[in-house]
Amino acid sequence: MQLFGFVLLSLLSVVRAVVVPAVDSSGHFHSPLALEATPQGKNVTINGILTYVTLPKGRFDPSIAVLLLTDIFGLPSPDNLVLADQWAAAGFATYVPDYLNGDALPMGGNITAWAPNHGEAQTTPPLLAVVSALKARGVKQIATTGYCFGGLYTTRLVQNNTITVGTMAHPSSLDVPTDFQRIKAQSHVPVEINNAELDTGFTPVLAVETDGVLDDGQYPPGYFRRQFNGVGHGFAVRANASEPVQVAAKQGAFDSSLAFIKKHLE
Ligand SMILES: *[C@@H]1O[C@H](CO)[C@@H](O)[C@H](O)[C@H]1NC(C)=O
Ligand SMILES: *[C@@H]1O[C@H](CO)[C@@H](O)[C@H](O)[C@H]1NC(C)=O
Ligand SMILES: *[C@@H]1O[C@H](CO)[C@@H](O)[C@H](O)[C@H]1NC(C)=O
Ligand SMILES: *[C@@H]1O[C@H](CO)[C@@H](O)[C@H](O)[C@H]1NC(C)=O
Repeated sequence: MQLFGFVLLSLLSVVRAVVVPAVDSSGHFHSPLALEATPQGKNVTINGILTYVTLPKGRFDPSIAVLLLTDIFGLPSPDNLVLADQWAAAGFATYVPDYLNGDALPMGGNITAWAPNHGEAQTTPPLLAVVSALKARGVKQIATTGYCFGGLYTTRLVQNNTITVGTMAHPSSLDVPTDFQRIKAQSHVPVEINNAELDTGFTPVLAVETDGVLDDGQYPPGYFRRQFNGVGHGFAVRANASEPVQVAAKQGAFDSSLAFIKKHLE
């Protein structure tokens, strides 16, 4: 069985890559790393939106928040919640809004049927509802970390100067180079990208094209990209604990995003 398969869909003439989940013989999603940990946070409602909130164990600065934007498997996937816990353990109050409106793609679900109900029109309002609630609560700096589907929304928040710093891993649905040209033209938000050598959506070729827009000092707010070899789409969210390359890449992506965020927060 393939842990990381890919479906490449051409919808609305942009590249959309999705992960096909590993499903065990009983039909349950299986991710070795997530199975080792139990989510530590809790679900709360923020401005009407279900949000998984996970806080550092010790003291933390409540004026800073990490906003984690999930893949299409959303809050029901323990991988996403355990990843959020990793951000909390790094010292940040971390918020994971259910911008899939209670309709995360179920394991084995039909992405073609699902996708039209999860365009920007449906996804942006719950996302911005949580962002504005955080700001109203006194959060002054928001660091966004987006994965797959969440990479598109991280990009939008960067383009719209809504956040302080944005990081993304194996983003999907981006229009390259247009989305990055828009960042260069109108944003002051630093951007970091972790991409996978074997990603068939945001490919190494598109990653290099992105560098052509933002790298080498062309984007003064800050840009950093790191490619992880031997792994595919989804690697920053799910890793097979028996595969050292996958485990190292997942941790490496986290470390790279964390270092970038720390560098760009005040
Ligand atoms: C994880 O990796 C091991 C070792 O390569 C392999 O035997 C196993 O099938 C993989 N698990 C999944 C769920 O892909
Ligand atoms: C939060 O809600 C999601 C989606 O309903 C659910 O799958 C998850 O188990 C909940 N997590 C906790 C910690 O309550
Ligand atoms: C998935 O959904 C699409 C669009 O609704 C439909 O055309 C297709 O037959 C479905 N595929 C499966 C395997 O059910
Ligand atoms: C970003 O701004 C555009 C243009 O105003 C808007 O259409 C879009 O909904 C915004 N997206 C986000 C995620 O803020």
